[in-house]
Amino acid sequence: MTYKVGLLGLGTVGTGVAKIFQDPNGRHPLLPDIDIARVGVRSLNKQREAIASNIVTEDLEAIVNDPAIDIVVEVIGGIEPAKSLILKAIANGKHVVTANKAVIARHGHEIFAAAKEKGVYVMLEAAACGGIPVIQALKQSLGGNRITELTGIVNGTTNYILSRMYFEGADFDATLAEAQQLGYAEADPTADVDGYDAADKMAILASLAFGDRVKLEDIYREGIRSITSADIGYAKELGFTIKLLGIARRVEGKDDSNLEIRVHPTMIPLQHPLANIHGVTNAVRIEGDPIGEVVFSGPGAGAGATASAVVADIINVVAALKSMPNQVNQLMGYPHENYAKIAPIANTVTQFYARLLTHDKSGVIGDLGTAFGKHCVSLNAILQKTTVHDGLAEIVVVTQRVSELNFQQAIATIRELPTLHSIPTVLRVL
Ligand code: HSE
Repeated sequence: MTYKVGLLGLGTVGTGVAKIFQDPNGRHPLLPDIDIARVGVRSLNKQREAIASNIVTEDLEAIVNDPAIDIVVEVIGGIEPAKSLILKAIANGKHVVTANKAVIARHGHEIFAAAKEKGVYVMLEAAACGGIPVIQALKQSLGGNRITELTGIVNGTTNYILSRMYFEGADFDATLAEAQQLGYAEADPTADVDGYDAADKMAILASLAFGDRVKLEDIYREGIRSITSADIGYAKELGFTIKLLGIARRVEGKDDSNLEIRVHPTMIPLQHPLANIHGVTNAVRIEGDPIGEVVFSGPGAGAGATASAVVADIINVVAALKSMPNQVNQLMGYPHENYAKIAPIANTVTQFYARLLTHDKSGVIGDLGTAFGKHCVSLNAILQKTTVHDGLAEIVVVTQRVSELNFQQAIATIRELPTLHSIPTVLRVL
């Protein structure tokens, strides 16, 4: 039996998917049993390779309503019409494969509930970390583990920018402009550089890792715009690099919170497995009991990587339909129904790095030490370089592990010191 796919979107990813089906040789033996029967595009005016023009339509609704279609593959991106098309496909009893992290991170609860009711699959390997098979691993291969922590470089654009800054000493603005010219960053880079894309992916990964739904708005998020070449220089000197990390871990809070999830630029020691992930590559480190540590890395975006994940999902659905046509494979669903209780950022306990500009006068270091001490913030390292300019001294401190609340209170006290000029950067340390 042949299974019919309705492909919504023929951009970079859609074309990548079509190309895999055109050339099944040496790939999974189920590929010839899958037919891309209809393709929905925004405009028919564009020249298309990889697909016969008689199956292409601008009428996306017609595809999700077509009784002949078994699996709808959504690779158009954005919230609408993607979300409505996914829900309509499910309502029509179709299985869905999507690469849409934005829709899943915001509307996953509604989509999974509808899928459960209709007994259909919603697959989303491509929605987080592109070609890295981490969703499948969390849903199936690591099923025997109690996951305690998931940490990842889940955004390629920011990793590219931070890697260039690290290796070339370049500044953020110049590196972003170059990344935009090379096509690694969007004209509007907000989603990537301000951490929204990473937060979407962390919401998806954390809910699979920890078994509870995650509300996107509960994820603490900071981007990388404030990182300067000076911070990269200090990081190197101290034996660290700076990466935009997504961090999710189980906690046992004073309140009933059970998870900590945050996305922010992080100083990480050079010997950490994520420190040597450079360029647009993504990586996810998972800690579980009993497995210990496992690290996945690979291409997080791009036609080939994302299409690889989408096609794997289609194959999984077809294999499940062939072997158990009237039942849902439990390993392919999303059983979680409760929401995680995410701890407020103030509860986080971590080390901090701060770069401060002060007037170059006697007693400044003493004032800083007193302010930190007053709020129980113990220091691990303090570095003072030369006078920077206009009589200002640059002082860098690294704290021991302290509560975010205490640290922020100390910073508020320091901001009141007459000798302080500014605090250009505060970073958390892994
Ligand atoms: N903009 C994303 C990134 C693409 O840089 O990782 C994949 O989601």
